[in-house]
Amino acid sequence: MDKQKKEELLKQIRDEVLNLKSSPLYSYRVANNYYPVIGQGNHDAKIMFIGEAPGKNEAESGIPFCGAAGKILDELLASIGLPRSEVYITNILKDRPPENRDPLPEEIKVYAPFLDRQIEIIQPQVIVTLGRFSTAYILEKFGLKNEIKPISQIKGKVFSANPLLGHAVKIIPLYHPAVAVYNNNVKEELKKDFQVIKQFL
Ligand code: URA
Repeated sequence: MDKQKKEELLKQIRDEVLNLKSSPLYSYRVANNYYPVIGQGNHDAKIMFIGEAPGKNEAESGIPFCGAAGKILDELLASIGLPRSEVYITNILKDRPPENRDPLPEEIKVYAPFLDRQIEIIQPQVIVTLGRFSTAYILEKFGLKNEIKPISQIKGKVFSANPLLGHAVKIIPLYHPAVAVYNNNVKEELKKDFQVIKQFL
């Protein structure tokens, strides 16, 4: 798919999410003058990062991972010499849940089709899932439902997925960077686990 087509299809996603009145998070977004957060980065990225949902900073700017968790993600990317501009970063939920609570199943249902389309457009070879929600969703989507276990047991592993996209896809679950914001031990572990991405650069 050429660059222009990708841009057009991603813009379409943005327009649809902007007008997604059927979403349970739509009225909360509008009442708070928030933006939906669609994704950011290289449309030809080899590596895609998938988080959970926008937080306050993200909803106020429309940019994924731009707050405290984003600062950790930036540090992690820097630690393996991977420029943020080279990857694509998105979330399952495109709107902020009130008080940053966990995504509800019905919210995942509403927003996941947009994530599916982003994956089809960008065609990443490596999908790094941040936290248990994106990990469970992506493992199931790629036929690896049996591998869904507590994130502490599967973080840092490289899963080879069914070639849904016509080429092999690797899935790497990791802890969510937000967990590392106030926990230095987790941060160190995340840093160590992040090294596994290096082999794909
Ligand atoms: N946490 C996420 O999961 N995504 C963001 O974009 C920011 C914080």
